Amino acid sequence: MQTLTIESLNKPFNIVIDNIASDKSISHRCAMFSLLSDKPSTIKNFLRGEDTMDSLKIAAKLGAKIDDNGETIVITPPAKLSEPDDVLDCGNAGTGMRLYAGLLAGIDGSFILTGDKYLRSRPMKRVTSPLRDIGAKIDGREDGNKAPLHIRGGKLKSFKYHSPIDSAQVKSALILAALQSNEPSYYKENLLSRDHTERMLSGMGVDIKTQNDGWIEINPIDKPLKPLNITVPTDPSSAFFFAVAAAITPNSKVTLKNVTLNPTRIEAYKVLEKMGTKITYVEHENIYEPLGDIIVEHHELNGVEVSENIAWLIDELPALSIAMSIANGKSIVKNAEELRVKESDRISAVVNSLSLCGVEFTEFEDGYEINGNSTLNKATINSHGDHRIAMSFAIAGLICGMNIEDTQCIETSFPNFTQILESLR
Ligand code: S3P
Repeated sequence: MQTLTIESLNKPFNIVIDNIASDKSISHRCAMFSLLSDKPSTIKNFLRGEDTMDSLKIAAKLGAKIDDNGETIVITPPAKLSEPDDVLDCGNAGTGMRLYAGLLAGIDGSFILTGDKYLRSRPMKRVTSPLRDIGAKIDGREDGNKAPLHIRGGKLKSFKYHSPIDSAQVKSALILAALQSNEPSYYKENLLSRDHTERMLSGMGVDIKTQNDGWIEINPIDKPLKPLNITVPTDPSSAFFFAVAAAITPNSKVTLKNVTLNPTRIEAYKVLEKMGTKITYVEHENIYEPLGDIIVEHHELNGVEVSENIAWLIDELPALSIAMSIANGKSIVKNAEELRVKESDRISAVVNSLSLCGVEFTEFEDGYEINGNSTLNKATINSHGDHRIAMSFAIAGLICGMNIEDTQCIETSFPNFTQILESLR
């Protein structure tokens, strides 16, 4: 098992970082959506993490030709997606499995989606159930709730579906299925989740629009889509580890370059601002999404309540918990039950790891309260195979030193994380 040892930093830094991992959500979608065109898609800055490379390998197994010169990846789709002669391995990626489930449900053929032991224990009913309701033939352990999933693709019906959860993975799976039906479909969620799918598909020529009452109308496609031509921006969720690093290190400043400033992705920065950190957003351009730099400067932190717009910061809550531990006063996270079904049970992983560092907390079913003003102690924590737990506690290690066990998972989303962390010294 790989262990990472972080020494405390004890000095300020002022750094510009231009090599943070590319966006994971957008990279997954590039691999998949390129299959819906009849021309080659050109992708620069594709995330070379395990999760997204797994999605790319699946695209190849479905018949796409991948030309990768180390910088640009050109994905040439097959004339018709082919039935693969092997299982499709999504690794650790919930996004990979759930979106491919929606895409493949409407494609003629037999497909088996599997993943690592963590992914095989995560709930899939949230996609398999609405997909079955529109005619998809999907089976899996626990009546289709756990992978491996077997999909026998075929004709799908159009639908009107109000989702009980605000999940971009569920929304995207259903949108991909809707493209392959005969009539317009309608999808609604209570709070808009990250909307890369809508933006990218619309750019590729899909007639998809969100109405004033929040219903998304998705029209089926009757011809191949325009290819993608995209430079994937920096992942704001990966960049956020270094935003927290600056927020907790007196007199420090970090400039995070070329990040997507999509409002559904930068809510955690807004919370850090509310806690006292000075943050500036400099928008440069708009290609599918607003893009630019985020500048984060240390200032004394105060406790905060986080109970709204949870889908917009769900991935950043573990890293925010580190800032909450040293802030003045209490912080509270509520309405975040989704954290329990991420790459690990992140509520339990966060509070138990903080407790090992000497932080007092109260755990709720849907969140936690953290007593701030804590003097963090060096501890040995386990990542539970979860990249965001591993990286959050590596950042805490800048204050107090940290041993983190089982850190191979960092490769899923941010292969050069430790290299950038070391560059702060
Ligand atoms: C993702 C959506 C989110 C997020 C995940 C990536 C995506 O999950 O937590 O890391 O790319 O669509 P949910 O949509 O299930 O909340």
